[in-house]
Amino acid sequence: MKRTVENKQTRRNAPGWLITFEGGEGGGKSTQITRLRARLIKAGFQVIALREPGGTVISEQIRTVVLSSKNTGMAFTTEVLLFQAARAQIYREIVLPSLIAGKVVLMDRSRDSSVVYQGMVRGFGLDLIEKLNNISTQDTYPNLTFLLDLEAKLGLLRRQQSEEINRLDQESLQFHKHVRRAYQQLVQTDKMDRWELIDASQSQRQVELAIWRIIQDRLFIK
Ligand code: TYD
Repeated sequence: MKRTVENKQTRRNAPGWLITFEGGEGGGKSTQITRLRARLIKAGFQVIALREPGGTVISEQIRTVVLSSKNTGMAFTTEVLLFQAARAQIYREIVLPSLIAGKVVLMDRSRDSSVVYQGMVRGFGLDLIEKLNNISTQDTYPNLTFLLDLEAKLGLLRRQQSEEINRLDQESLQFHKHVRRAYQQLVQTDKMDRWELIDASQSQRQVELAIWRIIQDRLFIK
């Protein structure tokens, strides 16, 4: 069975659905994407799961450079543009063709990460980030964005228990608190009806079920 998605919300003409997962460190985005992917496939959808920065050969190479803990001397403008470069490649190569083909695309971070981390927390400016995001995504917005919201301290603690620590994880607790506040602010001020705020301090199972209820509702799955 191959189900297609009824897409009433998109500003694009493509029939697929773009669902992004956002939030600070340790919110469990990748676990939830794996679980949602399995559920959607079982329900008959064609699903593709990706992460940013990364997801294509070129974008993964950019990821290595932008997140390497060795690159402490990276200029801030370089960081901004590298995230956008990785994004431009993944949208061109995978996201947009998949949406045109009617697939459900699940993404671990996308344009809102640049809005929050570079635009709001580092103060690069929202207008500029919005322009760059529109260039790299070809004016594509997600149909649905889950914010996995979690106290910064708890997120960092969870992150430290997993082995993978990157350049941006090394920022102070203050930075991570700022990230959380910025996401919450973005959800409150964004005019688009695409945000779903999830309490990520719950168990993984509870978060999974909360996400699935919303997906069933929004994708009209019986
Ligand atoms: P990753 O290891 O994928 O972290 P997480 O599991 O929290 O998603 O590293 C991605 C890091 O890059 C994360 O700290 C957020 C940051 N980032 C930006 O600052 N801007 C961006 O546009 C993107 C996509 C990520």
